[in-house]
Amino acid sequence: MSNPSTPLNLESLVVSLGRPPVAPGTAINTPVEFSSIYHHGGEIAYSRDSNQTWEALEETIGALEAGKARVFASGMAAISSVIDTLAPRSKIVVPEDSYNGTRHLLSELSNMGRINWVAVDITDTHAVLEHCKDADMLWLESPTNPLLNVCDLRALCSGARELGITSVVDNTFATPMIQRPLELGADLVVHSATKYLSGHSDVLGGVVISRDPSWIERVTLRRSLGGAVLGPMEAFLILRGIRTLALRMEKSQENALILAQRLESESKVSTVRYPGLTSHPGHELASKQMNGFGAIVSFEVLGGKDQKAKDGAERLLAGLKFCTDATSLGGVETLLERRKRWSWEDKTPRGLIRMSVGIEHVEDIWADIHGALQGL
Ligand SMILES: Cc1ncc(COP(=O)(O)O)c(C=O)c1O
Repeated sequence: MSNPSTPLNLESLVVSLGRPPVAPGTAINTPVEFSSIYHHGGEIAYSRDSNQTWEALEETIGALEAGKARVFASGMAAISSVIDTLAPRSKIVVPEDSYNGTRHLLSELSNMGRINWVAVDITDTHAVLEHCKDADMLWLESPTNPLLNVCDLRALCSGARELGITSVVDNTFATPMIQRPLELGADLVVHSATKYLSGHSDVLGGVVISRDPSWIERVTLRRSLGGAVLGPMEAFLILRGIRTLALRMEKSQENALILAQRLESESKVSTVRYPGLTSHPGHELASKQMNGFGAIVSFEVLGGKDQKAKDGAERLLAGLKFCTDATSLGGVETLLERRKRWSWEDKTPRGLIRMSVGIEHVEDIWADIHGALQGL
């Protein structure tokens, strides 16, 4: 694409970035570069260090998050590369309800004597910053997975900066279409590109983004030496998915709000968590720092505590005929799962169902869920 004279909106950037230079007769898409080695003497020598298909993807995600991006083999590879840079016995403050893999990783590293960590209620800004006083890194997620708690990103990131510690935001749930943490003061952003960025549940990938060249240098080195690199085909698929990110987010969050509102007035449903609902405790904050509310809705069905709640949720999932009972999120299809099936879901109620709302016709999704609820 040729260079436009005015800055483009995000909806246009997702379409136009990461393309080869314009020249008559050349391809408009960045090719998938299947080569592990390069002729000596150029900028790239070996594809564990760089690859043109990655570079196209990094240019695109970097611009969307307003920083510089490095891509990885998965979200966990991106997260590990950031945490690996910390000195031995560094302390990390992390949300008690953040993605289970992040807390599991921290626990493993702590068992090995590598780091210290503390899990906190991220909605309590004052308490979080108290924990940060002797910490090295503040890890944030907003909304959290799967409880959808919203924290004050601006206050926490600026508080962390005043204390001289690094703030990191896992922006997987929101995506840069809805929330740009670097603009709210974060030092680093991480993503599981497996989810919304790629958007079709067919690829694993991860990203780290920062404006600080020393951080980019550190995570680039971790990627080369750790070796958790993205395949060129995966880079192509993620970039291809990003072309429709704006449309997918718009449609799936429109569906999510309708479904959350209907679930809220459904007699067989007890709790509905969605930041777009005015009943959500973080609704006002989310309205200020997000440009939308995302497309994940968590809810519980009525039916008592513990075993009964678990059984009710599992029966609902078994009753689905159109939506899919599967883990993960951020694809075009609507997925539901009982989140407590997994370990490290310490704070998650036993019967909580996490729903990743897709882009299908909302009435088809609702008919399926409503039918399964009637069957309880
Ligand atoms: C918020 C969040 N961060 C990170 C990850 C890890 O990403 P990946 O599965 O690509 O390693 C996940 C995966 O579910 C996630 O939900």
